[in-house]
Amino acid sequence: MLAEDVQWQVLRNYAIVDGIMVALFRRRTRPLAISATVIVIYLLIIFVPKRPDTLYGFTYVHSSYDWSQHPQKYPAPAPIKQLPTGNPRALPKIQHAFETDSSPKDVEREQVLVERRLDVRQKFLKGWNSYRKRAWMHDELTPVSGGWKDGYGGWGVTLLDSLDTLWIMGLRDEFYDAVAAAMTIDWAETDDRSFNVFETTIRHLGALLAAYDLSKEPAIVLKAIELGDMLYMAFDTPNRMPVFWMNFEEARNGELEAGNHVPSAAVASSGLEFTRLAQITGDNKYYDAIDRVAQLLDSWQNRTSLPGMWPTFFDMRSMQLDMDRSYTLGALADSLYEYLPKMYLVLGGLEPLYEKLYRDAMDTVVKSLLFRPMTPDQDDILFSGSAYATADIFNLASESQHLGCFAGGMFGMAGKLFDIPEHVSIAEKITRGCVWAYDAMETGVGPEIFNIVECHSLEPCEWDDDRWLREGDPSLKKGFKDARDPRYVLRPEAIESVFFMYRITGDQEYQEMAWRMYQSIMKATETDLAFASIENVTVTGETEKGDSMESFWLAETLKYFYLIFSSPDLISLDQYVFNTEAHPLLRP
Ligand SMILES: *[C@@H]1O[C@H](CO)[C@@H](O)[C@H](O)[C@H]1NC(C)=O
Ligand SMILES: *[C@@H]1O[C@H](CO)[C@@H](O)[C@H](O)[C@H]1NC(C)=O
Repeated sequence: MLAEDVQWQVLRNYAIVDGIMVALFRRRTRPLAISATVIVIYLLIIFVPKRPDTLYGFTYVHSSYDWSQHPQKYPAPAPIKQLPTGNPRALPKIQHAFETDSSPKDVEREQVLVERRLDVRQKFLKGWNSYRKRAWMHDELTPVSGGWKDGYGGWGVTLLDSLDTLWIMGLRDEFYDAVAAAMTIDWAETDDRSFNVFETTIRHLGALLAAYDLSKEPAIVLKAIELGDMLYMAFDTPNRMPVFWMNFEEARNGELEAGNHVPSAAVASSGLEFTRLAQITGDNKYYDAIDRVAQLLDSWQNRTSLPGMWPTFFDMRSMQLDMDRSYTLGALADSLYEYLPKMYLVLGGLEPLYEKLYRDAMDTVVKSLLFRPMTPDQDDILFSGSAYATADIFNLASESQHLGCFAGGMFGMAGKLFDIPEHVSIAEKITRGCVWAYDAMETGVGPEIFNIVECHSLEPCEWDDDRWLREGDPSLKKGFKDARDPRYVLRPEAIESVFFMYRITGDQEYQEMAWRMYQSIMKATETDLAFASIENVTVTGETEKGDSMESFWLAETLKYFYLIFSSPDLISLDQYVFNTEAHPLLRP
């Protein structure tokens, strides 16, 4: 509207100027004068700066390309899938029944926890303030050199990803300052020709939805819709299956096609964000988009080479999900599984499909993927490995990943939700396994990828020194074969599961594990400006830093550390469900 007013004013002013020119010039030169005027008007219309609106108290910059107005080449065939209706079911409590009154005997404990969470908040602010000062509106701060880096479209991923952490830590001034900046983001303004649909969904969109769910600022929803409509274009393919990378040009021309070798997590981890967006806006198109993927997962669950699980890579173009034969809960597949129980939660228990997918998948995980390490103390811990399966071969590699540590939290939460006590017990063992891997390293921080000598069943096995000498690495703690990738890149999955297990069991031992992990991570990763990935967790003394601080450090890792030392009511798991970037979304 405003832009039109401006244009109209410009037109009127120049009509007056034109009158003057006509008076000045003779009839003979009038056409020339008019042409010149038309050109001047045209140029002025083009160069009149676009004035931002003020919306809901924020200076709001509309994205300069509106994808909601772009017709899809392959629109979803009617009728589109509707969100389930009806009252949300009364679901079992996930959190432990914590004492509500702060009885006098807890005062000392509370003092310890206050100091710890203030420490976490101070470290968070150190990273945030350096980002604010040196990398504002860019994707990441480079924590060693003090510059910035744009690897996620240049839309300020650290800014967005930190919004709800700011809110949760009670940093309201910083929160509103950051929201004000976020409302000026123009999704059409990027140097990149394509963007990663998965990362943008879990980080940028997840962040906006959580910031809205916590603050109820309506302007944030508008920004989320702009982005949601851009992401919705990723489904404009001949078979309605999403692309992994969305090329802007191809999207405009209706030339998108799903890939034939796509990480399964990337395809199947938009569910929470698209469902929440559909719930907030009342627009079912977002839900329809992700439901088609869920139906495909369902139709293939028993037809893969390891029935129950889905392989690491999918051919989404032909919709054949059995082309690959490798299976893991780690990199490239992780959040596919994580989102099954979480979808059940965000839908208020009204869509039974996700419970079935979860149960059948985890039956296979428990039977085929979990293993127990051989340790001198016969620790009661488990890890999840990676499998290769064909019709007649099954191989389990006892290789574990930091990324796979999320499985503790998943088993625990779903164990409570679906009343499967065995899963809660598995959750404790996986979580303790990840903490064990932290404790085993010189720095006290767990490696990215590591191999362990395994027992031959899920039951504890006798320590075998000969086997250890044959298979183990004598420079590492007894039990390890190697730390194949010894980096720590500020990842959250281990503390994530420790946090979930604390909230689920109420056992303070998890808070103590968290504090130990926290102190080790701080010592190993802190730089003058912020915190950095480290190259090798097995070294004694000074660590070698990488020049990287991914947005999940402020979005996830420090949020879980803060929450585990806070009151269990702060972002209760019975009210919120975390997306895979730790953005809390309201449950119905
Ligand atoms: C898939 O396999 C599971 C476990 O064997 C079984 O319970 C389920 O009914 C099967 N589903 C279909 C659709 O065949
Ligand atoms: C990590 O550090 C250990 C101990 O100093 C060393 O033996 C190993 O080679 C290092 N690994 C890498 C990948 O740098």
